[in-house]
Amino acid sequence: MSQVGILISGRGSNMVALLDAMDRGEIPARCSLVISNKADAPGLALAAARGVPTLVIDHKASATREEHDAKVVTALREAGVEIVCLAGYMRLLSPVFVRAFKNRILNIHPALLPAFPGLHVQRKALDAGARFSGCTVHLVDEEVDHGPILLQAVVPIFPDDDEESLSRRILGLEHHLYAAALRLMCEGRVTVDGSRAVLDVPHKEYQRLSGGLIWSGDSQ
Ligand code: GAR
Repeated sequence: MSQVGILISGRGSNMVALLDAMDRGEIPARCSLVISNKADAPGLALAAARGVPTLVIDHKASATREEHDAKVVTALREAGVEIVCLAGYMRLLSPVFVRAFKNRILNIHPALLPAFPGLHVQRKALDAGARFSGCTVHLVDEEVDHGPILLQAVVPIFPDDDEESLSRRILGLEHHLYAAALRLMCEGRVTVDGSRAVLDVPHKEYQRLSGGLIWSGDSQ
């Protein structure tokens, strides 16, 4: 069983999806700690209601990013965390943090990286006239929304989409994608070769995994 820590800043729907998948036994892991940098993050109550330990580490209480990240790293280590999942954690990580959990920090981003890193990415995809977007789970390195890609899921962009409808369509797949990627991590089936992640997944399973992560209707 891997020990996972989840970092949030807001709603926490990806966090809930990961906790649900762990509870169902789909991921060989337990969540030891949820940390938010914001005291009013709605996701905190959702975690606490399920008996998951929560902690607020307010970034405004630290003078520098490094000082804040050092507090987060200490809390994660004290909780015995081995793998860190960023789930709507809207902060850049300093090298202090990235090195403390090298190749053991996952992030989910609502676009097909390396296209559209940063904020307001659904708006950027619409403005670019992209025909497809999606979401990416990747290992976190020292750049923004960057690092070896684990899994991606694809959704179409329709002519009448706005930011809200596109975000909703992507979010529906995010929850499945993140759980699938964390499972691979916890099963020890991810290695890093330079800038790429290599998945130890038989071809048939990879096909099933990728095929299952393509949008197939708004009922999802
Ligand atoms: C999700 O769409 C996630 O992909 C995005 O924030 C949202 C959080 O929602 N993350 C990023 O944009 C990171 N660059 P949630 O709190 O309901 O999981």
